[in-house]
Amino acid sequence: MKKKLFIKTWGCQMNVYDSARMADVLAPLGYQTSDGPEGADMVILNTCHIREKASEKVFSELGRLRREKALRETGGERMIIAVAGCVAQAEGEEIMARAPYVDMVFGPQTYHSLPEMVAKLARGAGERVLNTDFPVESKFDLLPEERAPQGVSAFLSIQEGCDKFCTFCVVPYTRGAEFSRPAGAVIAEARRLVAGGAREITLLGQNVNAWHGAAPGETGAAWGLGRLARELAGIDGLERIRYTTSHPLDMDDDLIAAHGEVPALMPFVHLPVQSGSDRILAAMNRKHRADDYRRIVERMRAARPDLALSSDFIVGFPGETDADFAETLRLVGDVGYAQAYSFKYSPRPGTPAAAAAGRQVDEAVKEERLAALQQLLNAQQVAFNQSMVGRTVPVLLDRRGRRAGQLLGRSPWMQSVPVEAPGRLLGSTVEVEITAARANSLAGTLAAAGTAAVPQPSAVEATVVEAAV
Ligand code: SAH
Ligand code: SF4
Ligand code: F3S
Repeated sequence: MKKKLFIKTWGCQMNVYDSARMADVLAPLGYQTSDGPEGADMVILNTCHIREKASEKVFSELGRLRREKALRETGGERMIIAVAGCVAQAEGEEIMARAPYVDMVFGPQTYHSLPEMVAKLARGAGERVLNTDFPVESKFDLLPEERAPQGVSAFLSIQEGCDKFCTFCVVPYTRGAEFSRPAGAVIAEARRLVAGGAREITLLGQNVNAWHGAAPGETGAAWGLGRLARELAGIDGLERIRYTTSHPLDMDDDLIAAHGEVPALMPFVHLPVQSGSDRILAAMNRKHRADDYRRIVERMRAARPDLALSSDFIVGFPGETDADFAETLRLVGDVGYAQAYSFKYSPRPGTPAAAAAGRQVDEAVKEERLAALQQLLNAQQVAFNQSMVGRTVPVLLDRRGRRAGQLLGRSPWMQSVPVEAPGRLLGSTVEVEITAARANSLAGTLAAAGTAAVPQPSAVEATVVEAAV
């Protein structure tokens, strides 16, 4: 009998990938994904622990689900509630104790054992599961090869965990030690995604450019991300390759060179710097100075002149002074970002920075700094988007828009571009003339070549792209 599965996902792209993989593992047990918790036989909350606000959301969501579950039980039905992801890993026992209606709590490295966990619940009333192991075997080897179609733009996790231990961050504790999937397994999964319709693949890892996967076959040193990108670019039908999140220290020569040599490697890189102050960078354990970052950016831009950057910033890290913060603004001014995320420092249990008791920055000061930083970043984003007006850019149409006759796509620089286009162009790269820029998207119309498409999907791509070059 078919059962309904609802997975709610918070956090980073790796959680999005993991949610899709959990659905793949549960599909053979009869679970089909649905859009909401109503009438679901199983609800999984895939959670994020990165900042306090992110973790709090779990408990308020659980409150709602508890009522939904009670409702189902009065009708004689069962609803399994599960908490997965980084909050499950960090606070598993607390969730089990605080929320007795939660049936399963399991961490990010255990998803391949979902069938056994579900079987344990089925053994009888009162059975509950807490699984926060870091198993010796990799979940990637044990997850099913088959994946449900992921659409035009797909995520592929190639690296997981982190050994860098930035002093503010929970990831090394929730995801465990850094692990790279072998090159052969990554290439095979990429081929399957492309066969299923993907035209763009985003390679994922908490430190994706630290990836060093075993080379295919028996011999040879491990590959780096540059080598992998060159190899993936050879897959017929794969037009765009992206990767996230990268660390400045792991931006090696070969990856930088690949940006100049592999056209499929998109000219937009998320390269978080966190702060522009050397003192704060040292206290964060980032292991590079602000000028090292400036130089890396220069080298990347020398390899690929149209490269645009995004970043993450933390304001109000313990001990951050006005002078430190001014250094952050100066770095932002020097680099010029197309887009960026910025956060107030949030003390996380168990991390070294949270223990710096007397050095925590006032909440009001954090607010002020965040507002000033966001003002500058927003202005840069608007200017970057404005610079596209009047240009014709290639847009990969990856989703249907809300309105009939509208498709949504992305520019090479990740800007969202809605266009009026016939549905048969879904999955194609078309040339779009940009007519206006908004804060978070570009407006445009299909350039003449884009409308001359014929209805065969692969032929459409060939026609449109060639005509436009
Ligand atoms: N591996 C990536 C970051 C992953 S976490 C890197 O090294 O850059 C995503 C972002 O969340 C971080 O870049 C950081 O800006 C933010 N973040 C992490 N811990 C935080 C904390 N305790 N408080 C506020 N922001 C935090
Ligand atoms: Fe967290 Fe630092 Fe690792 Fe990024 S590099 S995941 S910020 S510990
Ligand atoms: Fe959040 Fe875990 Fe990702 S803490 S950001 S879901 S690695």
